[in-house]
Amino acid sequence: MMNSRRIFTTLILVLTIIDASLGFDYKEAVDKSLLFFEAQRSGKLPWNQRVKWRGDSGLYDGYQQKVNLVGGYYDAGDHVKFGLPMAYSVTMLSWGAIEYGRSMMDVNQMGHVLNAIKWGTDYFIKAHSQPNVLWGQVGDGDSDHYCWERAEDMSTPRTAYKLDPEHPGSDLAGETAAAMAAAAIAFRPYNSSYSDLLLVHAKQLFWFADRFRGLFTNSIPSAKEFYTSSGYSDELLWAATWLHRATKDASYLKYVVDNAASMGGTGWAVKEFSWDNKYAGVQILLSKVLMDGDGGSYTATLKQYQAKANYFACACHQKNEGYNALLTPGGLLYLHEWNNMQYAASAAFLLAVYSDYLSAAKSVLKCPDANVQPQELLLFAKSQADYILGKNPKSMSYIVGYGQTYPIHVHHRGASIASIFVLHLVVGCVQGFDAWYRRPQANPNIIHGGLVGGPDKNDKFDDDRSNYEQTEPTMSGTAPLVGLFSKLHSMNPNHAAGPTPTKAQPNTCKFRQTKVLYFY
Ligand SMILES: *[C@@H]1O[C@H](CO)[C@@H](O)[C@H](O)[C@H]1NC(C)=O
Repeated sequence: MMNSRRIFTTLILVLTIIDASLGFDYKEAVDKSLLFFEAQRSGKLPWNQRVKWRGDSGLYDGYQQKVNLVGGYYDAGDHVKFGLPMAYSVTMLSWGAIEYGRSMMDVNQMGHVLNAIKWGTDYFIKAHSQPNVLWGQVGDGDSDHYCWERAEDMSTPRTAYKLDPEHPGSDLAGETAAAMAAAAIAFRPYNSSYSDLLLVHAKQLFWFADRFRGLFTNSIPSAKEFYTSSGYSDELLWAATWLHRATKDASYLKYVVDNAASMGGTGWAVKEFSWDNKYAGVQILLSKVLMDGDGGSYTATLKQYQAKANYFACACHQKNEGYNALLTPGGLLYLHEWNNMQYAASAAFLLAVYSDYLSAAKSVLKCPDANVQPQELLLFAKSQADYILGKNPKSMSYIVGYGQTYPIHVHHRGASIASIFVLHLVVGCVQGFDAWYRRPQANPNIIHGGLVGGPDKNDKFDDDRSNYEQTEPTMSGTAPLVGLFSKLHSMNPNHAAGPTPTKAQPNTCKFRQTKVLYFY
């Protein structure tokens, strides 16, 4: 008995090793990518903070403006709290939790995912201080970028900027509404009163965004240089689509149908899905409504939405009659020179979700060049994730801290300067450039889980701190990967059949031991 048990254990271990050598460890990738959100935290850090080189920061954000804006996330390698990419990141984290929660439970990460979402939504609750007021940014890009210092030493102005009826911002308010609605769905099984609270904010924010129309960069010009939004119609449709999913209230579906043409929802055929452009996301979410048979009298318009969803998926999958998204020779989607990888990451997430929707409907993706099985679409999404994790011409991982080789000169203020718990002296604004930014050595802190900007159109990557286009990690790039890696983990045959998930609470998620090594 003992012997056969031991042989069985060894067999399982060997199988696990073989499997690991054939593919990537997506479980570790999920775990790592969630650490990035802890490293980006602004405000008072909680007792269970796992990224130990970070300390409290931004504790007076909003003080001058007499509003409590402590908390939220720093955007990337800097310390500005930009509302638009932060809200988009929370939407993406929430969408991942909605679709792939079971897999997240299976790898003991659901509690961390909910905490990552809540760090954003708790901040948005503060920032949405009145029904028609949304504080949309803390910190100023120019003055912040003039300094190279740790968040804990911050000496730059923490100016806060708001939207109100005289200073509208339908894109920013719309995305924040979408984030709150998506988070409300993600939280519903775990804390229904928090979910209800998020929904109240989502509805008010949508109303505010829709009623007072305008581009947020006209109201917050300081964001223009960094996050110019190309329009707000997509965010209005996006917010309404998420509110429909969260509430099942048909008036939101009516909104996206009534405005389908005027807001470009059924007009725009796009190849990009990002913090700026949500059309493909709207089109794919509405395809699900159609395929679920919930279209009713709106079926005709929803079919038009799905035609554009198909355009996006076919273009990414290179089956779109030549109107395809560009790929690098190594196979990575290539959309922008600056921080391209975030666009590949968000597209891959979206394709994985669409593949699942098509599968559930027993449907196929109809492309001009071929009919594509959902499984093929998923494999394309996987190819993007695998490129990111190391299956690329440089054989390096673009997730910091994952695998053997990854960027070590990451363009990130906190990661590149010794921790305040190691170096107690203040590192001044300009001093940071001389003492830390220009050092040839690797960063003293590994910013685990951050997705950097990644290689150029020829798969070339220069691991240099001054090469911010390639070496800066972002929230919006990393957020969709949490869901994508969770999905890919669940496809792994050794892990596919997990036990039924139990309820998780943020902070108190029960941790099961790694199944294979301990349970057999
Ligand atoms: C659920 O959310 C409410 C409202 O935000 C909060 O007061 C409460 O502590 C949460 N409950 C748990 C168990 O986390």
